[in-house]
Amino acid sequence: MSTPLPTFHNLRLSLSSTILILHLSNPPTNAFTTSLYTSLISALDYATSRNNLTCLLITGSGNYFTSGVDFIDQSENYNESIVKQFMLKFMNFPIPIIACLNGPAIGIGATLLYHCDYIFGSSTRNNGKRNYVLMPFTKWCLAPEFCSSVLLGRRMGVGTEMLLFGERVSIKKLADLGFLRTEPKYTPKTILNHTKEYIINNLSSHVHSRESAMLFVKLTRLKRNKDLRLEEVMNNEMKEIAKRVDRGEVREAVLKGFSKL
Ligand SMILES: *[C@@H]1O[C@H](CO)[C@@H](O)[C@H](O)[C@H]1NC(C)=O
Ligand SMILES: *[C@@H]1O[C@H](CO)[C@@H](O)[C@H](O)[C@H]1NC(C)=O
Ligand SMILES: *[C@@H]1O[C@H](CO)[C@@H](O)[C@H](O)[C@H]1NC(C)=O
Ligand SMILES: *[C@@H]1O[C@H](CO)[C@@H](O)[C@H](O)[C@H]1NC(C)=O
Repeated sequence: MSTPLPTFHNLRLSLSSTILILHLSNPPTNAFTTSLYTSLISALDYATSRNNLTCLLITGSGNYFTSGVDFIDQSENYNESIVKQFMLKFMNFPIPIIACLNGPAIGIGATLLYHCDYIFGSSTRNNGKRNYVLMPFTKWCLAPEFCSSVLLGRRMGVGTEMLLFGERVSIKKLADLGFLRTEPKYTPKTILNHTKEYIINNLSSHVHSRESAMLFVKLTRLKRNKDLRLEEVMNNEMKEIAKRVDRGEVREAVLKGFSKL
């Protein structure tokens, strides 16, 4: 038997074949708090140190993927240096990152998808309504984050709907655009199993799949990050976010809009 997986606050780890699964577990909506960011940093370090994984899978427990950063309690939950550490480790992660959207992906839950190598999504939520992705930055008086200003900012259409107008975009529409994969059989309860099965059947079945997958990441995501100088982009975005958080206007806007998520 292998050694037990480490345990973290607000984050559960599980292993399926050579896939390490991170389950965001901060009920009720898996909000990103400083403690969750810290756990994610440690989990990414752990995953990097373990040299026999073929991919990292990230999903949410319960009804949400994540509702993003809790800006209502800013002082507790927005430590710029920790957020930056998480983003750098995530975007530069050396093996494929796959997201499994069991529920809504909001704020950083949406922007982190642009740093994943593949995404699976359930088109419905546990309450039967449509599942969606949402970046409410303009509504919350925030700047785009996690390089979304560059990764989405130059795209008309759905990029503008998400980033400028802060509209919910349904999983169905994102699948039609080729952004993610959904199938009628994917429900919030079964999608993790379908995702694991898909990865095991298509990515983890060969002896050399880890090396091939790492090469893929190197030639695609890591190269893109370098070409677009995404670290610099991220730093500029964060300066803007910090200004707005300091002025208190974010808190006010979020308090008005939070109940509508
Ligand atoms: C993978 O690596 C971990 C620690 O790095 C070890 O505990 C585990 O037994 C290994 N699993 C396999 C299948 O080799
Ligand atoms: C943010 O976290 C760092 C640890 O990475 C710590 O040194 C610093 O004091 C924290 N800042 C605030 C404002 O809590
Ligand atoms: C997922 O798969 C596991 C093992 O293959 C099974 O025990 C479990 O019931 C499945 N869960 C769902 C929700 O289908
Ligand atoms: C990939 O996985 C899916 C789900 O298990 C399976 O239906 C499909 O046939 C697989 N593709 C290949 C090329 O094996």
